[in-house]
Formats: sequence, C-alpha cells, structure tokens
Amino acid sequence: PRVTIVGAGRVGSTLAQRIAEKNLADVVLLDIIAGMPQGLALDLVEARGIELHNRQIIGTNNYADTSGSQIVVITAGIPRKPGMSRDDLLKTNAKIVVEASKNAIAHSPNAIFIVVTNPLDVMTYLAWEATGLPRSRIMGMAGVLDSARFETFIALELGVLPADVKAMVLGSHGDLMVPLSRYATVNGIPITELLDATIIARLVERTRNGGAEIVELMQTGGAFFAPASATSVMVESILLNQSRLLPVAAYLQGEYGLEDVVIGVPCRLGCGGIERVLELNLTDEEREALYTSAQSVRKNIERSQE
Ligand code: NAI
Repeated sequence: PRVTIVGAGRVGSTLAQRIAEKNLADVVLLDIIAGMPQGLALDLVEARGIELHNRQIIGTNNYADTSGSQIVVITAGIPRKPGMSRDDLLKTNAKIVVEASKNAIAHSPNAIFIVVTNPLDVMTYLAWEATGLPRSRIMGMAGVLDSARFETFIALELGVLPADVKAMVLGSHGDLMVPLSRYATVNGIPITELLDATIIARLVERTRNGGAEIVELMQTGGAFFAPASATSVMVESILLNQSRLLPVAAYLQGEYGLEDVVIGVPCRLGCGGIERVLELNLTDEEREALYTSAQSVRKNIERSQE
C-alpha cells in the first residue's frame, strides 16, 4: 500500500518515519517547498538499512507522484505561534487544505483522507466538501491525540504505566473539547475511584490546554511527535483493517442530534474508513459540552467561507 502525506513539515515528516518504520506502507511526502520533501525522503531512505524496514519513501512537489494512494494525510498549512488559538489559522489553512484535497483526490480517487491541519474540525469539513467523498472516507485526527494527552496526565498523576490508562476525548479539537472522565479507567478501574474530583478537573484542564502548553514551551511551532503517533494509529487501523474504536473527527448525519458538522466521536476504523459511528449515552452536561463545541465548529465553517 501507499500513503501520501501532503505537507512535509514536522508532523508530516515524523508521520512518514512512523509509517515506514512500523512497516505499514510506502510513503509519498509532498510539499510546496522545492527540494525539501526530496531531501527528507532521502534521509529516511538512508535510515532504512539501519531500521530494517523495506518501505519506499519518495519526496515530491508534484501530485502526479501521489497517484493510487490508499490513504492521503493532509498536514499542509501553518502551525500556531505562541498566543495564537487554532482558530487564528482559519483562513490561511482553509485555502491550503481545499487546494491540497482537490489535487490529491484527482490522483487517488479511491483514497481515504485523514486531515491533521488546524483548526482540525473545520479543515476536515472543508476537505469533505472539496472532495465530495462519502463520510466514511474522510476524517480528522484530534481525538486520538487529545485522549493520549489525557491518559498521559492521568498516568503521571497516579504514577502508573500510560498504556494501562484508557480514556476518550470527544468534541472539537480546541478549548471546547470534551474529555469523558467518567469513562476513563486504569485497567478497567474508573479514575473516579482513584482520584479526587478536583484533581480530575485539573487533569481535564491540562488536556484542554495540552497543545498550547507545548506551543508556549517550544516557541517555534507546536507538537509533532505525539500528533504523528496518533495519526499513525489511524493509518494502521485502516490499512490493517484492525477495527479499532477510536475518537475520530467525523461528518455527522444525525448522530448525537447533530447534522452537517464535523466533530470528534467514537468511530470504528477499518479498511472502509469510518465503518461505524458509536452513539454513547451522554449525561446532560456532556451532551451540552458537545453541542457547544459543535456550534463553535459551525461558526468557524461559516467564517471560513465568508
Ligand atoms: P510545519 O510548518 O512544520 O509543516 C507544514 C508544512 O506544510 C510546511 O512544510 C509547508 O511548506 C507545507 N505547506 C504549506 N502550504 C502547502 C501547500 N499548499 N501544499 C503542500 N504543502 C504545503 O507545521 P506542523 O507542525 O507540521 O503542523 C502542520 C499542521 O498540523 C498545522 O496546521 C498544525 O496546527 C496542525 N496540527 C494538528 C494537530 C491535530 O491534533 N490535529 C496536532 C499537531 C499539529
């Protein structure tokens, strides 16, 4: 199989490394900067004999080289600078994502698309519109990352192995995300049995602020290691038909009482893309938070089209 990554920046190039080194697929890295994706690809190829995988990695500035991809990941765009919210990226990235989606679908009409560019939910909606794809084949990555952050903070608080912590974060990728603490467990034990409500509230807040925390520390862009890992998990579940149940930004068609909006919900990901959207029984408070989050996505979809 072949995976195209549009945008060979920090998230894109790290994702290329993950996909190749996990031996999942050949990778085409595309960027508008001449020579840059070619150089990165050569660097990754030179590591191949050491890392012992057998995947091709090519870099290009030409969409013709991406043809026949099973998956297209879009990370092209600009990242946040300190003090910026994801929404500040709206207009610039909207143009980039729409153009990239149209170019990519023209050469890989059967591909499944994963959008990573921020503001995530809006960009996924615009890519859905630009490609005309059925909702099963277009989605955004955010929930897997936000959940991993929440799990990390829970694990750090309790001093336990992060892999033993399971949590899910729904909603939009931003300050209005909806971490479901009620469902978070350590090997099946609810965290509500293990931690005080005030501590959980603090961990939820840190999760909401997880991206900004790193932007502020680095001062030169945002996170990319964990975002690349999170995206590779989605790529893997699709390519290997693993049917994992992951929080995915999906185009909703009435689920959770929401329509014509993209928002993070639990989805089963397999070779067909989003094979099922799971509807959880949310509390009034959680449902309210999901609606608020959907409303802000909708407002930004409108703003992006002004
Ligand atoms: P970056 O600046 O390192 O890379 C972006 C790349 O896109 C650059 O190499 C740039 O040349 C390229 N690009 C710009 N316009 C293009 C076009 N028209 N066609 C092809 N390539 C183009 O940024 P980074 O850190 O890799 O982040 C990428 C995006 O992903 C940002 O919007 C960031 O906010 C977002 N992001 C989203 C996350 C999520 O959870 N969904 C997590 C982390 C980042």
